[in-house]
Amino acid sequence: MRGVFITFEGGDGAGKTTQMRLLAEAVKRAGGDAVVVREPGGTPVGEAIRAVLLGPEHGRIAPVAELFLFPASRAHLTEEVIRPALDAGRVVLCDRYADSTTAYQGYGRGLDLEFVRRVNEAATGGLVPDLTIVLDVEPREGVAAASAGGPDRLERESAEFHERVRAGYAAIAAADPARVRVVPRGEVDEVWREIVRLAAPVLERAGLRIDGAVR
Ligand code: TYD
Repeated sequence: MRGVFITFEGGDGAGKTTQMRLLAEAVKRAGGDAVVVREPGGTPVGEAIRAVLLGPEHGRIAPVAELFLFPASRAHLTEEVIRPALDAGRVVLCDRYADSTTAYQGYGRGLDLEFVRRVNEAATGGLVPDLTIVLDVEPREGVAAASAGGPDRLERESAEFHERVRAGYAAIAAADPARVRVVPRGEVDEVWREIVRLAAPVLERAGLRIDGAVR
C-alpha cells in the first residue's frame, strides 16, 4: 500500500511547524507512522543547499540559480526520503514542496510559470501531494513572526514580494482546488480543527482515523 503525502505551504511565519507537529502526533495516535521533513533541507545534502539559499550573507542570488537550487534539494529529498517512505506505506508530512517554488520563484520573482512547472516536475519525478494545506498569513505579520531570530535571505524581501507570493498561493489553490486548500489565519486550535477536517478523509483512505486532540 502506498502511504499518504501531505504538504504544508504558506508565507513565512504562518505557523506551519506547530500544525505539522499536531498532525504528526495525531497520526501516531491513530497507529500510523509519520515522517516529518522540511524544504529546503531534510537530508545532509539538502541542508547544505539550504545554507546557500537562506544565508543572509549571500545577498542576491540570480533568480534562475535560486530556481535550480530549491528543486535540487527537493529532487534529493524526494529520491532519498519521500518516495521510500511512501513506498513503505508511511505518512509523509513535508514543510514546503513544489508549490513553494511556484509561489516564490514563479509568482514572487516573476520567472516564467511554465518553465517553473517543468523544473518542478523534473525535481519531483511527477510526485504530487495527496493534500496541500496552505496556511494563509498577512505578509507583514508573518514576516515579523518568522524573522524574530534574525531574518533569512528571503524574509528580507520587500512587502510587495511577499504579497505576490500570497497571491501566488491563491492562484495555485484556485487552479487545483481538490488538492490545495487554503486555511485562513486564526488561533492555533481553530486552524488545527480545520486541518483535521481536511486531512481526516485523506488519511482515512490509508486506514488511519485521526482525532482532533490538541496536546
Ligand atoms: P524556512 O525557514 O523553512 O521558512 P518557513 O519557516 O517560512 O517555511 O525558509 C524557507 C524559505 O525559502 C522561505 O522564505 C520560503 C523560501 N522557499 C522558496 O523561495 N522556494 C522554495 O521552493 C522553497 C521550498 C522555499
